[in-house]
Amino acid sequence: MTESAKINIGLLGCGTVGAGVAKLLIGNKQLLAARVGADLNLKWVADIDIETDRGIQLPDGAFINDAHKVVDDPDTDIIVEMIGGEGIAKDLILKAIENGKHVVTANKALLAAQGNELFAAAAQKGVDLAFEASVGGCMPTIKSMRESLVGNHIKAMTGILNGTCNYILSKITDEGISFKEALDQAQNQGYAEADPTLDVEGFDTAHKVAILAALAYGMEINLTDVYIEGISRITPLDIAFAEQFGYRIKLLAISKFLNDRVEARVHPTMIPFGNLLTHINGTVNAVTISGDAVGDILLYGHGAGMMPTASAVISDIVDIARNILCGAARRVPPLSYQRENIRKIPILPIDDLVTHYYFRFSAQDRPGVLSTISGILGKYDISIQSVHQKGRKTNGSVPVVMLSHLVKEADVKQALSEISALDVVSDEPVLIRIEDDEMD
Ligand code: HSE
Repeated sequence: MTESAKINIGLLGCGTVGAGVAKLLIGNKQLLAARVGADLNLKWVADIDIETDRGIQLPDGAFINDAHKVVDDPDTDIIVEMIGGEGIAKDLILKAIENGKHVVTANKALLAAQGNELFAAAAQKGVDLAFEASVGGCMPTIKSMRESLVGNHIKAMTGILNGTCNYILSKITDEGISFKEALDQAQNQGYAEADPTLDVEGFDTAHKVAILAALAYGMEINLTDVYIEGISRITPLDIAFAEQFGYRIKLLAISKFLNDRVEARVHPTMIPFGNLLTHINGTVNAVTISGDAVGDILLYGHGAGMMPTASAVISDIVDIARNILCGAARRVPPLSYQRENIRKIPILPIDDLVTHYYFRFSAQDRPGVLSTISGILGKYDISIQSVHQKGRKTNGSVPVVMLSHLVKEADVKQALSEISALDVVSDEPVLIRIEDDEMD
C-alpha cells in the first residue's frame, strides 16, 4: 500500500446500520487496507443528530449535520447513503451521482420504487450504484446472483427475507400464541418497529423480491405488479392444521421465470417439512436460488442488524474502492445485465397463478354442508386432494379444511366468494397457497 492511496468515504445517516459501517471502517481499518491496497478513510459522517455518542472516534469536524456538504465535497469518492426512505435519501443520491460520485445504499424501499431512475442516472454519469445490503442483510444475495451465478439462467428464487415476520411466525408455531401476542413479543425484543406495517404486511419483502427479480431475469424493477399479502391474518389454528398435513407456514418471496412472464409474489405459504426453508426460524433470513447449471443454492444469515448489514455495505465500498484503484467503474453492471439488454417483462397477475391451495371454512356441522361446499368448488373446476373436518367448535361452527390439486387463483376466488355467502358458513374462508413439488 502506498502512502497516497486513500479513498475518501462520506457516510450519510448514522443510525444503527450507519454506525455499524463507521465502526467497521474504523475498527477493521488495517484489515481492509491490506485487502484493498488503500486507506478507506471515513472522511465525513452526516446526521441530523450529532449529539448522541455512537462510540465512534472521528477526527474533529468530521461529524456534521449537513449532508449536502458531503455530497458536494470534491475529495469524497464514495457516498454511503444510510438514511432510508424515499425523500431526502433520493435527492442526496441523485446529487452525489450528478457530482460524479459512486454511491452505496441499503435503501430497498427507494430502489424498489424508483431504482430504474437511479440506475439510469448512475449509468449516464458512469458511476457505480451498489446495494448489496438492500436484500437479506449480510447474505451475499446480490453478488451471488450477479457474479457467482452469472453463468446460469436463474429459474426461480424462494426466500424468507423478513426477520420480523419469520420471528412472529416461529413464535406462533412454537408457542401456539396469536399473531398479536407474537407481534407484542417481537416489539418488546426490539425486532419489530412500533409501526410494524411495512414488515408484517409484506411490503419490505416485496421491495426485496422486486430488486431480486430484476437482477435475476434482466427486467426493469417493477414493484407495482408484485402481489403482496402479509401475515397478520395467520392464526395458530391454520399453523396447527398445516403441521398435520406436513407443512410449515412461512412468509415467502417467490419468483419464477416463465419465459415471457415472471412470477413475483409475497404471501404466507405452506411448504413441506422436507424443504430446508422450514428449518429457518427466528429472525434469520434464507433464500434458495435455482439456476440451470447449479441446481439449487441456499443462502442463510442475519437479514438485519447493525453489524451483519454493515458487513454487506462494506463489501460494496470495497468493490468500488478496488474499481477506483484500477481506474475502472461499472465493471460489473449493477443489475447484472448490460443496460441495453434490460427488458420490461410482465409479472404474472395473481389471478392467473396456478398452484395448490389450503382452504379453511367455518361451517355448520350438519348433513349436506360438505357436499354444498364441494359442489361449488366443483363448479369452478377446483379438484380437492384431501379434506379434514375436526370437531374443534368455534362459535358453533367447525373448521373444514381442504387441500386442492393445481388450480387457478381466479377460479378459487370466485368459488370462495360463493361459499362465503352460504348461510351455513360463518367467517371469511381462509386461503393459503402451497408450494409443494411433490403434490400432483
Ligand atoms: N425489517 C426487516 C426485517 C429488515 O425485519 O427483516 C430490513 O429490511
